[in-house]
Amino acid sequence: MPGRKFPYPKSIYAVEDALRVCLEDRPDAIVLDFFAGSGTTAHAVMRLNRQDGGQRQCISVTNNEVGADEQAQLCADNLRPGDPNWEQWGICDYITKPRIKAAITGQTPEGEPIKGDYRFTDEFPMAEGFEENAEFFTLTYETPVAVSHNRAFARIAPLLWMRAGNEGRRIEALPVAGWDVADTYGLLTELDAAGPFADAVAKAEKVRVAYIVTDDERRFQAIVRQLPDTVEPVRLYESYLTNFRFAMGR
Ligand SMILES: C[S@@+](CC[C@H](N)C(=O)[O-])C[C@H]1O[C@@H](n2cnc3c(N)ncnc32)[C@H](O)[C@@H]1O
Repeated sequence: MPGRKFPYPKSIYAVEDALRVCLEDRPDAIVLDFFAGSGTTAHAVMRLNRQDGGQRQCISVTNNEVGADEQAQLCADNLRPGDPNWEQWGICDYITKPRIKAAITGQTPEGEPIKGDYRFTDEFPMAEGFEENAEFFTLTYETPVAVSHNRAFARIAPLLWMRAGNEGRRIEALPVAGWDVADTYGLLTELDAAGPFADAVAKAEKVRVAYIVTDDERRFQAIVRQLPDTVEPVRLYESYLTNFRFAMGR
């Protein structure tokens, strides 16, 4: 991307070679890069997909850190982490997101066709882009009380969708009917609606996970018995709220 630089970029071709070793025979793999930095891994996964028609997914997680030199300048300007004028220079906002978007669309952030070619095992203009799609989410801290009272649902919605395979429609808001079934998962928020929910889950062919919001383990188990064996039942929000409790329990 013209004019945008960051320290120590990796060679996309070296990352591609490394990924090929374990992904060559796995066209449906999900790659997780939890220190994703500038997003080279995701970019290399897109190249691999193009080479063999694969449908690999890549989940990239990164902070939004600012380089040391820029940090010194921003501090001198009396800015702090969290200020929009600081965060805009962070690696995620300044490099990763525009880079992934540019790689897919074949256009610079200014809307110009990218100049140059990929030159490795294959050769083609970068301006061709990739037949891929990407979504960007911001990880936030939600209080346990808000989560357990269903008040943080919109923030949690992408997590439920990702856990079920990052595919198809996402349930963005609490369903008015007390339940909803999307392409790969279902959500039950009103236990009285368990009957129609279980029927809809049974009819939907690709549903893998059923999220059931209840504090009552026995009612949860009663609903699980109505679901097909192929569907993984998950009780909300129990595991999400207790997973990390040991770290805080003093
Ligand atoms: C060496 S780079 C990663 C290179 C990357 N895997 C690639 O494909 O090019 C490491 C990145 O991890 C990010 N990072 C550092 N601490 C982190 C944290 N606690 N959580 C997520 N990302 C972090 C930094 O922004 C840094 O750019």
